[in-house]
Amino acid sequence: MSPEPYAFLGGKQLPLAEAKVGIMTHALHYGTAVFEGIRGNWNKEHGVMYVFRLREHYERLLRGSSILKIELPYSVDDLIDITTDLVERNGYREDVYIRPLAFKSAQLVANLKLHELESDFTLIVVPFGAYIENDGAIRCQTSSWRRPDDTMMPTGVKLAGLYTTGILAKTEAVMAGYDEAIVLNHDGTVSEGTGENLFLVRDGVLHTPSETDNCLLGITRESVITLAREEFGLKVVERRMHRSELYLADEVFLTGTAAHLTAVGELDNRKIGSGEMGPITQKLQEMYFDIVVGNNPKYMHWCHAVTPGGG
Ligand SMILES: Cc1ncc(COP(=O)(O)O)c(C=O)c1O
Repeated sequence: MSPEPYAFLGGKQLPLAEAKVGIMTHALHYGTAVFEGIRGNWNKEHGVMYVFRLREHYERLLRGSSILKIELPYSVDDLIDITTDLVERNGYREDVYIRPLAFKSAQLVANLKLHELESDFTLIVVPFGAYIENDGAIRCQTSSWRRPDDTMMPTGVKLAGLYTTGILAKTEAVMAGYDEAIVLNHDGTVSEGTGENLFLVRDGVLHTPSETDNCLLGITRESVITLAREEFGLKVVERRMHRSELYLADEVFLTGTAAHLTAVGELDNRKIGSGEMGPITQKLQEMYFDIVVGNNPKYMHWCHAVTPGGG
C-alpha cells in the first residue's frame, strides 16, 4: 500500500493532501459538477479488487458532463485506465468507494455561462464499508421534500447541484430516527430514495418507477432488472407508482452503489409485508452480493479486476 493516499487532479496523480482547488472554483459556488459513486469490492481469496460496472459509470459521467458542457480530454477507456492506476497505487485491500468528479474549475464566480467556463476532472479513492447500517430491513420515511422534476434540472444523471434535495431529505429522515427517506415527485408519485432507486414486489412481480419519474438511471437498478428477468424469470414493470402502493406491497427494496440492495421493512411507521426482508429481495441480494465480489463467472464482465499495489 502507498504510504499516503493519492488522488488524481489536473491530469496527474498527486498526494491527496496536495490535491486542492481555489475558493473561487465555479463548482463550489453553483454545484456545476457531475460525479459518480463506484464501488471496488475486495475479494480476499482472489487478492483482487473488483470494481463494479466501471465502464457504465464512466459512460453515465460523460453523458452528464455533456449536459453541463464539461469537456474532458478523456474517453471512457482513458477514465478506466486512470481509475485502475489510482486503485493500484493506493493499494487498499478492503472495500473502497471511488469518486470521480467532472467539474467547472474556472475561477470565475459571477459567470453563469457554461460554455465559457473551463473544466477539470478529479478522482478520489477511499475505504468504504456499509452505507446504511442495518441487519435486515431498514425503516424509511416519506420525505417532505420533493424530487426536482426533469423540467427543472436533468434528473437522469448525477449532477452535483441536484443532491441538495437528497441531502435535505436524508438529513430530515435520519434526524427523525429513520434510516432513509423516500422522495416523491411533485405530483405525489414515487421517485426514489436519496441515493437509491426503489422497487416494490407485489404478487411476485417487480415494479419500479420509470425514467420519466425523475429517478436517476441507476446502474444497480439496471443490474437488478437483468438478474430478476434473466436469472429468476420474474416480470419487471417500469411505471408510475402511487405512494400507497408502497404500504400495500409484499416487499420493498432499494438499490444503489453505496446501499447495494437493501430491504425496506417499514415506511412511515407501517410495516411492509412481514416487516422483514422478503424472499424475492433476499434471493436477488444473495446473487448480487456474489456477483459484485467476482464470485459468479457468468457476470465477470460486470467486474473490473484490479490488483492493489500493481500486478
Ligand atoms: C439519487 C440516486 N438515485 C439512485 C442511485 C443509484 O444509482 P447507482 O445504482 O448507479 O449507484 C444513486 C446513486 O448513485 C443516487 O444518488
